[in-house]
Amino acid sequence: MYNVLVLHGPNLNMLGIREPGVYGNESLTAITTNLEKTAVGLSIGLESFQSNHEGALIDKIHEAYGTKDGILINPGAFTHYSYAIRDALAAVQLPAVEVHLSNIHKREEFRHRSVTAPVVIGQIAGFGAYGYELGLLALHRHFRKAGDHS
Ligand code: DQA
Repeated sequence: MYNVLVLHGPNLNMLGIREPGVYGNESLTAITTNLEKTAVGLSIGLESFQSNHEGALIDKIHEAYGTKDGILINPGAFTHYSYAIRDALAAVQLPAVEVHLSNIHKREEFRHRSVTAPVVIGQIAGFGAYGYELGLLALHRHFRKAGDHS
């Protein structure tokens, strides 16, 4: 059994309402419910948390130290400028995967840069809500390869 913290940054509580042409029609609750189903099949326990506040996300990352096996994170706009979230991810040294619903690389220039990408295993962008499932699969594969659980 692996334990994964799923973090959603600012404005992701507005999914379903917020720019559906960019982010899709699914609510965060629906995304979380679907992800739970995938997690059960992978023997992964999930804790999901959304916040519009940088410090709250950082506190959660710190709490994951010693209690979680990995982190799945969509930092929202913090992706592009939060050195503090980047440093928190680096501090806990947990395997993490960065997810974006939209393909940030084909959007506005300011979204092309991710300050968190250098401290995660990899980034998944542009597959909508399915990206969270892909991210969870990637983390699962990483755990299996690391062989730290049987
Ligand atoms: C996002 C992309 C970010 O640029 C944006 O600020 C978000 C959502 C995505 O999931 O595509 O809030 O992280």
